[in-house]
Amino acid sequence: MGKVQSNEALGEGFYLMRVEEKNNARMGQFYMLRAWETYPVLSRPISVYDADEESVSFLYKVVGKGTELLARLQAGDEITLDGAHGNGFPDLADKKRIALVGGGVGIAPLYLAAKTYKKENPQCIVDIYLGFSGKTVLTEEFESVCDKLTVNVGGFVTDDIDPAAYDAIVTCGPTVMMKVLYNKCVKSRTAAPLYVSMENRMACGIGACLVCSCRTSDGNRKVCKDGPVFLGSEVFNIE
Ligand SMILES: Cc1cc2nc3c(=O)[nH]c(=O)nc-3n(C[C@H](O)[C@H](O)[C@H](O)COP(=O)(O)OP(=O)(O)OC[C@H]3O[C@@H](n4cnc5c(N)ncnc54)[C@H](O)[C@@H]3O)c2cc1C
Ligand code: FES
Repeated sequence: MGKVQSNEALGEGFYLMRVEEKNNARMGQFYMLRAWETYPVLSRPISVYDADEESVSFLYKVVGKGTELLARLQAGDEITLDGAHGNGFPDLADKKRIALVGGGVGIAPLYLAAKTYKKENPQCIVDIYLGFSGKTVLTEEFESVCDKLTVNVGGFVTDDIDPAAYDAIVTCGPTVMMKVLYNKCVKSRTAAPLYVSMENRMACGIGACLVCSCRTSDGNRKVCKDGPVFLGSEVFNIE
């Protein structure tokens, strides 16, 4: 159980919720959240947007019953959270130029990623590319943790990035967006690895049910346990 410290509506159905919770969550990991008794049956996976030792923040968008119930929470309410789960984003301390590319609510895990990469290697350049279909959210916050922020509204954020300009690229968003980015990386012949954070539907969140299975070049893998972060080539370059 954690105590909600704040749960702020940001517009366009986006909410930013901060929960009091001792943790050692890493960038790219997620929690299974639950703010109800029996229905919906399953807890909902939400990425870590930010974290310090005493609290975890989540950026989420209301799309159905579970996220609607999360949005009703107020400061002081209790929430069940289980995590942090998943492998998280890789250590890129040896890379000089890193791009983080997010689409829609897939922008959520990129804030802590940028903060962490800059903290681990202050010399490295971290550029963020965010794609929104409507109103933008938290752009000042993202701008404060990177070297350059590029925001695309209503278009294709993948058009804005030159993969050849980077030593590593990290992305989270709709699968179709991440696949376009993977193909662009291949076309540009960049040696930069592309890391993709998959958002498959989940049930248990701990590797027990196979609901989140994802086909990869290494056979079927569990997004909750083996991921959610994979190499783009593992998930998009399969026969
Ligand atoms: C590892 C991981 C991290 C995630 N991080 C975040 C996050 O930081 N913020 C956030 O807002 N969401 C995130 N999601 C997605 C989030 O879990 C779903 O939006 C949520 O479970 C929907 O629950 P619901 O009850 O509100 O909607 P439901 O009633 O379950 O679904 C409503 C609609 O959303 C679609 N939907 C539900 N889950 C997904 C999904 N995983 N991918 C695509 N479409 C889906 C359904 O098909 C349906 O059309 C993440 C998912 C995963 C697997
Ligand atoms: S959600 Fe159950 S195995 Fe991944």
